Amino acid sequence: MSLLDIQDLTIEAKQGQGRQAIVDRVSFAVPEQNIVALVGGSGSGKTTTGLAVMRLLSPGLNIVSGRIYFEGNDVVAMPEGELRRYRGKQMAMVFQEPLYAFNPVFRVGCQIEEVLQFHTDLTKGQRQQRVDALLRQVEIKDPGRVARSYPYQLSGGLRQRAMLAQAIAANPKLVIADEPTSNLDVTVQARILTLFKKLRDDLKLTVLIITHDLGLVRSLADQVVVLSSGRVVEEGPAGEVLQHPRHVYTQQLLEAAK
Ligand SMILES: Nc1ncnc2c1ncn2[C@@H]1O[C@H](COP(=O)(O)OP(=O)(O)OP(=O)(O)O)[C@@H](O)[C@H]1O
Ligand SMILES: [Mg+2]
Repeated sequence: MSLLDIQDLTIEAKQGQGRQAIVDRVSFAVPEQNIVALVGGSGSGKTTTGLAVMRLLSPGLNIVSGRIYFEGNDVVAMPEGELRRYRGKQMAMVFQEPLYAFNPVFRVGCQIEEVLQFHTDLTKGQRQQRVDALLRQVEIKDPGRVARSYPYQLSGGLRQRAMLAQAIAANPKLVIADEPTSNLDVTVQARILTLFKKLRDDLKLTVLIITHDLGLVRSLADQVVVLSSGRVVEEGPAGEVLQHPRHVYTQQLLEAAK
């Protein structure tokens, strides 16, 4: 059984009097301890799919049909109370929009600690130790300074690591990372990718990476799912899809990435 199994997911947006399918009968699975890349151009529905797994869609968007099984439990049918225990604890998301990510007015360490406060019984002292350990786990050399910093005081790479530390704070099984390397320069990107692999191996994490960057897919992903206008047009082992893309849209994405 796959850790995450999305079946026939359709998400619509209200548009004037009518509705428009943003995600259209999407099905794919994320096997345990795999890194799966969800790729596609801007507006193809990647973030919407990720937010649906977390059940964090904005009010204008609705899941109108389909199932999202997480360890066999349907997230679509889950009551809000249960979802709150799921988010962070079972699955966590590193958001694309800075607006949803760290709150600019609180120190980074406090925001990571908040996750621990919600999901664990650790004491204040234990939580602070755990924040320190988490920041080390994402290979931050000076965890004390980073914990005391406000988000804007960190470089893009450090902030991305700190957000990852927050995502893994309560030991989730699945991490969804939305464009984890965009806005970072190439060397920093490479280090973040290595970090994802390390976390997958050390923590037995399963990762759904959302990206438009096929370079990232090549060096990181086991499986790839290609979205175009809200539909899955191609999927398979990353190596295979990149070497022998069958769909013309995938070929165009590859061409554009050269
Ligand atoms: N709240 C909303 N209401 C209406 N339409 C929306 C809403 N959120 C997103 N959309 C539309 O849904 C489509 C898919 O958006 P989504 O953010 O999922 O794309 P994406 O693949 O993540 O793109 P990008 O690579 O630019 O991040 C877009 O056309 C977008 O305009
Ligand atoms: Mg997006």
